[in-house]
Amino acid sequence: MARNATNELLQKAKKSKSDEFYTQLSDIESELQYYKSHFVNKVVYCNCDDPQISNFFKYFALNFKELGLKKLIASCYREQVRDLFNTKEDEKGFFYKYSGTEDEKTIPSSNDIVYFNGDGDFRSPESIELLKQSDIVVTNPPFSLFREHVAQLVKHKKKFLIIGNINAITYKEIFKLIKENKAWLGINLGRGISGFIVPEHYELYGTEARIDENGNRIVSPNNCLWLTNLDTSKRHEDIELTKKYFGNETEYPKFDNYDGINVNKTQDIPLDYKGFMGVPITFLHKFNPDQFEIIKFRKGNDDKDLSVNGKCPYFRILVKNKRLQPELIENR
Ligand SMILES: C[S@@+](CC[C@H](N)C(=O)[O-])C[C@H]1O[C@@H](n2cnc3c(N)ncnc32)[C@H](O)[C@@H]1O
Repeated sequence: MARNATNELLQKAKKSKSDEFYTQLSDIESELQYYKSHFVNKVVYCNCDDPQISNFFKYFALNFKELGLKKLIASCYREQVRDLFNTKEDEKGFFYKYSGTEDEKTIPSSNDIVYFNGDGDFRSPESIELLKQSDIVVTNPPFSLFREHVAQLVKHKKKFLIIGNINAITYKEIFKLIKENKAWLGINLGRGISGFIVPEHYELYGTEARIDENGNRIVSPNNCLWLTNLDTSKRHEDIELTKKYFGNETEYPKFDNYDGINVNKTQDIPLDYKGFMGVPITFLHKFNPDQFEIIKFRKGNDDKDLSVNGKCPYFRILVKNKRLQPELIENR
């Protein structure tokens, strides 16, 4: 028992702090405005969300009719606290189903919610049962379980719109989905997500940390993104290319270990280069799959990080322009 308890304490300490970042309604509204057409007659499941406090639940309950939703489900995980001081093991997770009728509440009371038999972990059979009843999952999952959360959505072939850390792009499982056009970045990124509500015990850090007019403690890590497989028209807008490779070759050195050129900024992608180009990961925010093809992440032919004259620029993604204008190629 003592060893188990120690292990669990260690596990807890290891957990990412951002597991306790709660999303603001304003950030949800500013992203969701681009996806409205996807929700008509759909069942939305917020599977890491206490319906009594989650702004995801609140957003969908308040906009239920406007979006034309069929049903809204939110489920809350109850961490099983079993440390040296607290031996309570019987806390159950719970969920609430909302179908937009008059007698339902947009903030459910404890009488309205339904208890799971278990803790409400999104990986539990009970939560998976709710997932099967749903069309689209929208939430901010615990960052430490982000890979597992996405893998489960893909396995069950669900549509999703979720918040994660920008670093998630560099996870091989996530990058693979992006490369294969099975997932992509949403509209807001970094500073585009203004901040998260943190609990009382959480230290307010950073110059943008604040307490809002409702007394919520907010931190702005500026390092998050939305990941989705819901299409938007923005995703089909071309990146405007103005620079040329031919005549400016020295600005675009070749990689030592791959037949391609290094491009330091997305806006500097040359419009006349038909080969492979290594671009920064921020390219993905502007990526239009009709314009570019993603080839490979980070590594050269020798399976080492892409390098230029022995130096490795920070993570590069190899891409290729899909629709080079023929007259530009002929003129080179
Ligand atoms: C980053 S917070 C976001 C909460 C809420 N989705 C929001 O955006 O405001 C992650 C939430 O996931 C919950 N959680 C942690 N582990 C979980 C699990 N295994 N299954 C479901 N939820 C979990 C945490 O209790 C926490 O409320």
